[in-house]
Amino acid sequence: VIDVKSLHAQTGMFTLDPGFTSTASCESQITYIDGDEGTLLYRGYPIDQLADNSSFLEVCYLLLHGELPTETELKDYTTTITHHTMLHTQFDRFFEGYRRDAHPMAVMVGTVGALSAFYHDSTDIDDPMQRMIATHRLIAKMPTIAARAHKYSVGQPFVSPRNDLSYSENFLRMCFAVPAEDYEVNPVLARAMDKIFILHADHEQNASTSTVRLAGSSGANPFACIAAGIACLWGPSHGGANEAALNMLREIGSVDKIPEYVKRAKDKSDPFRLMGFGHRVYKNYDPRAKVMQKTCHEVLDELDKRDEPLLQVAMELERIALEDEYFVEKKLYPNIDFYSGITLNALGFPTEMYTVLFALARTVGWIAQWEEMTTDPTQRIGRPRQIYTGAAQRDYVPLDKR
Ligand code: ACO
Repeated sequence: VIDVKSLHAQTGMFTLDPGFTSTASCESQITYIDGDEGTLLYRGYPIDQLADNSSFLEVCYLLLHGELPTETELKDYTTTITHHTMLHTQFDRFFEGYRRDAHPMAVMVGTVGALSAFYHDSTDIDDPMQRMIATHRLIAKMPTIAARAHKYSVGQPFVSPRNDLSYSENFLRMCFAVPAEDYEVNPVLARAMDKIFILHADHEQNASTSTVRLAGSSGANPFACIAAGIACLWGPSHGGANEAALNMLREIGSVDKIPEYVKRAKDKSDPFRLMGFGHRVYKNYDPRAKVMQKTCHEVLDELDKRDEPLLQVAMELERIALEDEYFVEKKLYPNIDFYSGITLNALGFPTEMYTVLFALARTVGWIAQWEEMTTDPTQRIGRPRQIYTGAAQRDYVPLDKR
């Protein structure tokens, strides 16, 4: 009979760190977070500066290549991405296999995973050129796939990509243009969309990025790894929180109900939490939430929806929570998801699409992290250990003796 304690002694020492709160899984040069200060840098550049001055494709280039592009490099990169936006024609039939009422994230997990079946000419991960093409394909095709997931769920025909538009303009058009009706992309809304994508582009070793790295560590192809990341992102404690935050604001409904919900959030016998509040790493205001709040106001102003009741509820909830001893003591501040739901709702997206937009934007972070890991000579297959607490060795008992 194996003595479990002696088994532990034989296997050597390792740390038990549930939820990996204090374990670094890798070294990385891509994104820096100082959770106490509320700082987020992509390749050294502060997130607010990038959101104010850059475009999403420029940020993609930065995350992937480590430096901001020159004018020519950005032009070439933009041309490359816009030439990969189309999907294989059989891909449309693939969508048709889903029920119309499927959650678009379920469609995303399946369709992005299926890219490896359609583009298996770029799945040799030992070839840098093939890896680069896979990266271009992912960044270029995600808006087309995401827009189709939306169009399919609302029962409208797919809109083909337009390569003369910017990344975000093209995406909004593919989501909202309807055949035989004029559709002009509003530049203010397209800029807001771009900012939202920039804010979500990377966030170091969060759950979904760690999933992508772990999947990639076995040598799996990039499309399969990104599909794994999308599956992980779907959860309500991660990417699903923006959907949950908006649903919560709708449920609260009016400013007078806020104290009741704040009380519930503090009650340990009640599983209710204020969605869009708190973060594993930020113990200060999430720097992305500040930009998102500003973007939310820009969108609502542009659409003449300054009096949007959900915004009033959100702002008052934030004010009350930030003055409440429980939230102050536990350092629970609004995170990026708190204002993103209201903004995306105003832009016209149904709630089920919020996490899809997050996945679209995060694809560049995932693939940049995957590339960094794949080219790291010290990289080994990820294989966490465990502390076994189950039964000691015992003999099989035949069915008639149990
Ligand atoms: N409302 C009320 N209490 C909360 C909240 C909240 N939103 N968040 C944390 N707490 C409390 C916990 O009950 C716990 O209290 P205790 O110490 O008395 O037990 C304490 O704060 C610490 O919480 P943990 O869950 O241990 O913190 P952790 O770092 O594991 O979780 C998380 C972080 C998951 C984000 C959490 O704050 C949460 O559930 N927030 C709501 C969901 C959300 O907004 N998620 C989006 C995250 S950002 C992103 O993915 C883009």
